Formats: sequence, structure tokens, C-alpha cells
Amino acid sequence: MLITNIGKLVGIQPEGVLRVEGEAQGRTGVLENAWLRIEDGRIVDFGSMPSVILSGSEESIDAQGGMVMPGFCDSHTHVVYAGSRDGEFLDKINGLSYEEIAARGGGILNSADLLHRTSEEALYRQSLVRVQEMMDKGTVAMEIKSGYGLNPADELKMLRVIRRIRETVPAAVKSTFLGAHAVGRGYTHEAYVQAVIDMLPEAEKWADFVDVFCDEGFFTVEDTERILGATSLTPKIHANELAVSGGVQVGVKMGSLSVDHLERTTDVEISALKGSRTMPTMLPGSSFFLGLPYGRAKDFLKAGLGVALASDYNPGSSPCGDMRFVMAQGCIKMRLTPVEAFNAVTLNSAYAMGLSKEYGSITVGKRAALILTQAGWDLTKMAYQYQTPFIRQVIL
Ligand code: NIG
Ligand code: FE
Repeated sequence: MLITNIGKLVGIQPEGVLRVEGEAQGRTGVLENAWLRIEDGRIVDFGSMPSVILSGSEESIDAQGGMVMPGFCDSHTHVVYAGSRDGEFLDKINGLSYEEIAARGGGILNSADLLHRTSEEALYRQSLVRVQEMMDKGTVAMEIKSGYGLNPADELKMLRVIRRIRETVPAAVKSTFLGAHAVGRGYTHEAYVQAVIDMLPEAEKWADFVDVFCDEGFFTVEDTERILGATSLTPKIHANELAVSGGVQVGVKMGSLSVDHLERTTDVEISALKGSRTMPTMLPGSSFFLGLPYGRAKDFLKAGLGVALASDYNPGSSPCGDMRFVMAQGCIKMRLTPVEAFNAVTLNSAYAMGLSKEYGSITVGKRAALILTQAGWDLTKMAYQYQTPFIRQVIL
């Protein structure tokens, strides 16, 4: 397949660039008036329109001046869940905090009760609607976590549903075992941490990563270290959403691919991340929805680190999987430039789920998982006019 008359081909990176950090996050390759060729689902070549060689037998798309960019990569979601938490939305409007809602038996435990009562088939169908919505909005690769089961049978039910979604949809799907999301009903804290450790051998058969909600009122640094130390799965952890939790340091120490949330960080966390493989990942959708501070993305970049942004799509803190809105918040609320925010929702987010060899940029050999926009769009306009429909086609 050949795409011609591309107004702007955006997100070009040389082969082998798996993440961009510091000043490099503010740069991306752009080719104006371009073409791009796809074979067997991969990018095989691209160039400037005057150099295009048309072959009669090839399917072709006239981009009519639209922008072509790599599709969004969403490295942190909880889109497999049952039912809704709209009742808590009203509690929240009436002034209760996330912690207060959780303390009253709402929050994650409410979702676990709903999931327990929902059949595996219904859970799959409800979740697939959200995954389809994400793909329609341009997401081509996503991570999905368990963590609303909170007992061995229901955690496994979630992991099977994630596997089934991975087998059904054209987007790439990575799976994360988040047994340690909250203490399951009927367990003491200690007994539940041990139960999570006991679930790990089975989880290793289903999941790519392991996650722990290392935060005030949930799991401690010691719990996190015990759980991560008991598995061969690579960690990606929740840290520093509700408090300066020590989660970043333990994440770096245990070789996490990413530490996520980071609404509350000091310079100590920034220093701890330097020189590590760990991608700091911020979730502006939950800052927006819960009224939390936005992550200090700009300070991380100034320190030479890269930053990824993801949606955190979930029923309690971010009921939205729109990565274009995430990118816009990166610009509006975190003062990232459009290019910095773009790299955060594509290449760096692909890195944060181990997919940046295949996704996240326009690079020969990578998957042709692309967004083709209407004519006249560029990265700045995407973030600035953040609600105007801009996608003409998602190529997956
Ligand atoms: O990433 N912070 C922990 N977990 C989710 C929220 C889960 C929920 O409230 O259902 C998050 O924000
Ligand atoms: Fe989350």
C-alpha cells in the first residue's frame, strides 16, 4: 500500500532510537509533501512526493494534504473493568476525596465486587467497547492491567480477558498483573501480600509485566520490594500519586520499565531516575479528574530525562482513554511543547511497555500503525484545538 500527498509526515526517527530524553524529546523528524509505502503491515520506505514511484498493482491512499503520524501508544490503562462507578462520581462532586471514597468501601473494591458478579463473557464484551473506542481515537498499542479481581480466581479471569482482547484486536496489547492494587475483601493486609506472591507463578503465564500500587493507604515500599522480588516479570509500578511514597526509588532499584503517576515528586525522585532504564510516566487524565497536581514533566526534561504520558483509563480516576486529550493536557497543564508531548504519547509511551522497537515512530521496519488526519493539521493544532475532530483514518 502506498500513501501519497501527505502534507506532513511527522515522527520520523532513525532506526534504533527506543526513547527520547531531555532536549531530544523536543525534536522529531518531519517531511513535508511526502509519500510512505507499507508492505505486510510494516513501513518499508518513505520520501518526498517528487521522488514517488507509482506501481499500478498497488493499493494507494491519497492523503490529500493530511498529516501522517505514528498512532498513539498508551502504556497505562485499566480498561478491563465491569460496570461503572458513576455513583462515586456524585460523591466526588459532593466533595469526597479519592481516599475517602476508597475508605468507605468504594473505589477499587467497588469495582472488584462488580467484576466478581460479572461473567467472563460480559467482562470481555464491556471492555472491548472501550478498546474499540480507544482505537477509533488513534491508539494503536496499549497496556492493560488486572487489579479489579483481588483474589486468585478473579485476577485470573481478568488476565484471560486481556489475553482474549489481545487475540481479537489489531492494536498491540500488553498485559500487566496488578494483584497488588488494593487489599482484597476478606484478607488482612499481610495475608493479601502473601496471596499476591502466591498468585505470581500463574500470573507469569499470562502477563508481560507486574505492577504494585505503591502509595499511602495501599502498599508500602517493603510490600513492593517483596512482591517484585518474587517474580521474573518486569515491573511497571504505580508510585507517588497520593503521597511521596518512595515508590520511585523502589521502582528504579527493582529495574522497573516505568514508574507511573508521579503527581507528587521532589528533586530526590528526579535524581533517582537519572541513568536508569525506568521511564517516568505521567497520567494527566487522573490529575484532571481527581484535581491532583500535574506531574513536573518539564523539570524531568530539564534534568535530561524522558517523559511518557498515558491515559490511565479506569472507572475511578480517569474514565477517558483519549490520548489526544492527554497530549493536549501535556501542553496546556504541564507546559510541554507540542513535540515534547507528541513524543510522550508515542515513542516514549511505546518504550514504557517494551514496544518501541515496533511502534511509536515513523521508522523503516516498524509497524505501519498510523493516524492519517484531515488536511491542514499539525502537532500544534492537534493540541491547541483539542476537541475538533482531526482523524480521517486509523491505519492498523
Ligand atoms: O491508576 N491509582 C490506582 N489505580 C488507578 C485507579 C483505580 C480505580 O480507582 O479504579 C489509577 O489511578
Ligand atoms: Fe493506574
